[in-house]
Amino acid sequence: MKKRTSNWIKIGVPVLIVVVIAAVVGGVLGSRAHSNSDASTSGAAAPNSPTGEAAASSAAALKNEIGVYPTATNSLYLLPVYPSTTNTAAFTQPTFHPSDNSSLAWPADPFQPSSPVITTVRPDRPRLIAPSYKWAVLPGLIAADPYLTLWNNTIFGNATEYYSLPPVVYFMDGPSGILDNAREIKMRLKAFSYVYRMTNDTKWVDRAWSEIQNAIGTNFGPNNDTKWNPGHFLDVGEFCAGFAIAYDWLYDQWTDDQKTTIRSSIIQYGLSQGIIAFANSNGQYWGWWAAASTTGNWNCVCNNGLTMASLAIMGDDTSGIVEQTLNLTLPSALAGCANAVTSDGSWSETHAYWHFGTTGHAEMSASMQTATGSDYGMLDSNQNFGLNGVFHMYGDGPGTFFMWGDHGPNRFSTTANGMFLYGDHYNHPEYILHQRDQHDAPEPWSMFWYDPTVSGAFWDNLPLDHFFDDPLTQWASMRSSWTDQNALYVAMKAGKLTGHQTHNDLDLGDFVIDALGTRWAGDLGSADYRSTGYFSSDDQDSLRWLYYRKRSEGQNTILVNEANQLVVAAPTVNHNTSGTVQGSSTVFTPPSDSTAFWTTDISSGYNDTPTFQRGVRMINGRTQILIQDDITSSGAMMWRMHTNASVAVDPSGTSATLTIGSSTLTMQILNPTSDMQMSIGDARRFADDPALPAGETDQDNPGVTVVMINMAAGTKSLQVLFNPQWPGMAASAFQTPPSVPVASWTLESHNSS
Ligand SMILES: *[C@@H]1O[C@H](CO)[C@@H](O)[C@H](O)[C@H]1NC(C)=O
Ligand SMILES: *[C@@H]1O[C@H](CO)[C@@H](O)[C@H](O)[C@H]1NC(C)=O
Ligand SMILES: *[C@@H]1O[C@H](CO)[C@@H](O)[C@H](O)[C@H]1NC(C)=O
Ligand SMILES: *[C@@H]1O[C@H](CO)[C@@H](O)[C@H](O)[C@H]1NC(C)=O
Ligand SMILES: *[C@@H]1O[C@H](CO)[C@@H](O)[C@H](O)[C@H]1NC(C)=O
Ligand SMILES: *[C@@H]1O[C@H](CO)[C@@H](O)[C@H](O)[C@H]1NC(C)=O
Ligand SMILES: *[C@@H]1O[C@H](CO)[C@@H](O)[C@H](O)[C@H]1NC(C)=O
Ligand SMILES: *[C@@H]1O[C@H](CO)[C@@H](O)[C@H](O)[C@H]1NC(C)=O
Repeated sequence: MKKRTSNWIKIGVPVLIVVVIAAVVGGVLGSRAHSNSDASTSGAAAPNSPTGEAAASSAAALKNEIGVYPTATNSLYLLPVYPSTTNTAAFTQPTFHPSDNSSLAWPADPFQPSSPVITTVRPDRPRLIAPSYKWAVLPGLIAADPYLTLWNNTIFGNATEYYSLPPVVYFMDGPSGILDNAREIKMRLKAFSYVYRMTNDTKWVDRAWSEIQNAIGTNFGPNNDTKWNPGHFLDVGEFCAGFAIAYDWLYDQWTDDQKTTIRSSIIQYGLSQGIIAFANSNGQYWGWWAAASTTGNWNCVCNNGLTMASLAIMGDDTSGIVEQTLNLTLPSALAGCANAVTSDGSWSETHAYWHFGTTGHAEMSASMQTATGSDYGMLDSNQNFGLNGVFHMYGDGPGTFFMWGDHGPNRFSTTANGMFLYGDHYNHPEYILHQRDQHDAPEPWSMFWYDPTVSGAFWDNLPLDHFFDDPLTQWASMRSSWTDQNALYVAMKAGKLTGHQTHNDLDLGDFVIDALGTRWAGDLGSADYRSTGYFSSDDQDSLRWLYYRKRSEGQNTILVNEANQLVVAAPTVNHNTSGTVQGSSTVFTPPSDSTAFWTTDISSGYNDTPTFQRGVRMINGRTQILIQDDITSSGAMMWRMHTNASVAVDPSGTSATLTIGSSTLTMQILNPTSDMQMSIGDARRFADDPALPAGETDQDNPGVTVVMINMAAGTKSLQVLFNPQWPGMAASAFQTPPSVPVASWTLESHNSS
């Protein structure tokens, strides 16, 4: 069978060619005041500025005057662009403001059962996510809050765009099934349902109905119970969630016949298939996702869809399947989904899959809470779950997120807006403040999860660095600023190579570097999910590890004898930080002694390599980066880094100049031994790599160059210094740090002498 475009092409290229959507964020609110144009180069708070409650109160009062903080969304990375400005009155520490004007806050839910049970739903509709008491006050909150105003407008715009499109066309995408179909339909049904409720215009109900009829029609999938593709159960989960919202939010508008049709579709194509899946959750057939060991997005998305659909039709369907389903989904999600967050807050799959997992988790938690009065432990049974927003925020660099492992399929209805629910529930206002500026914030869930009493700036007093220490997910994040799109950012990982739902790579020591508004060292992301054996296992001999993008040679790390790293690896880590926090201003220059380092012992990931310590650190007030490898090996060694830059290696073979657009970064080997030789090559498998499965090929990596440093066997200290060529920084201002063994690194060990 002929292969279609790879996932990488489908996902990667559109990101590269997105048109500028600047002004979308800023433009809608024409009344942005100029009170925030008081640009300053100091990160310090102005003298006599209010603190605590007084500051929060004044920040809340300024809300409409200031409007939305970012002025635009970066067209390449879709990250917010902040103005260079100090506004000590508004950019205060993140806080909720409970004594705020009550017209700016959600009222308490009148449905407060004293002993909630999942089979007893609230008396009124909607039940799911947005009960009627919230719709009643929403127009007032929209008028009072610039973010809600922006999002409401954007959702109307999006719904208007979808309105004139034909219903989603059925497309079976191999092993990815009809997941894109399901998520696009869910996205549309949410938007149509929202706009109907905000306008009472039944044209939106009619349009939702045509989308529903399409998704159960004779031209959509096979005409039997497998129409929603239960063999790839995520698809069923997302269809169920979309149908549940349409059924519930448009309940008063549906005729009895329409309700019967939606219910019977949910039961035939959704819940009945769920019962079959649970009966096979021991790994056979297609119910593997229901097992307690599936601590990842599949468990979240599938259980959520079945749960939302059950809650939506509860009472109207009396067959018992609703109760039977909820009896299965809730324990499964508490065991699997809720445990996908490790002790340090990391999502155990990857950064990309955090989005899919938390969308399902947040929808399920919120739906049970609103429909029945409790989340039954989804939010709190894993006491670390609330830290997942820290994981998400620190994974975002100014050149997109730390994209280790698979970067996942198209998003559609999947967003980072669980941050609103989590920020509120776990008392992390910075999660909300961070997410409200993001490009994917405008969608119906945000309208109900956002707490408009939040005030401040997420970056105020936020540490520049964070280290994640769970043995499964050790990684580090360090930066020079939270608000400067040109900031320096480096993230590096170790962690176990198994236990990530087969979404990881053999990538101990892998890193990304952002500076000057672009990514200089990056990851290649997913290979083709349809390739033979791609998800077969994470054992050492898995077919997955034959594909270049999953092999160690496809990562930014060191190879010994060109071999893959060992899946039994158990790295250890060490780190320290000056603890620098950004101040209120978006303009921030770290002090010259501001630094951080992270080191890892990854020798257990290698044969023939008794010692291997890799370290990364910020140098010279976070303007330069040093990556050092202290390694002893009896095999030949090769340092590798993947970059989109064009690379010119100096004839000496010890330094290189990297260029992206008009920006330049130089990298240099410090104290090189004579065998250390820098060169460049293509991002593709070695000629003598083990063969790919029959008929398979690696994806091309267009535009990507590998910078290599070859070293002979022996004991080496390879020190690579990265110097982004900052505008206005004199050559003499760059420092050459001293040579210090990784094991002896301290905060002060690399101070200029
Ligand atoms: C609450 O709203 C009233 C009327 O809009 C306004 O006068 C008052 O200052 C507000 N209080 C706070 C704390 O913002
Ligand atoms: C929501 O946005 C639409 C479209 O811009 C607008 O017509 C409507 O008045 C807004 N709703 C509120 C409550 O402001
Ligand atoms: C919604 O509309 C905004 C503004 O036009 C656009 O940037 C965004 O991509 C749309 N989102 C979706 C999911 O269609
Ligand atoms: C829509 O109808 C409901 C119920 O009759 C009413 O409470 C609400 O104000 C109406 N909304 C609009 C925008 O007309
Ligand atoms: C459903 O129909 C499809 C397409 O005709 C067929 O391949 C599949 O085996 C059928 N499934 C069942 C359970 O009958
Ligand atoms: C739900 O589970 C409980 C406890 O296992 C059991 O007693 C009850 O019969 C189940 N209900 C349904 C509808 O399956
Ligand atoms: C190349 O650029 C794309 C788009 O920004 C990015 O996703 C990718 O990670 C970059 N690749 C490398 C190797 O830096
Ligand atoms: C971090 O560095 C500081 C300053 O040198 C030192 O006092 C502290 O003990 C270090 N922390 C750790 C955990 O090593």
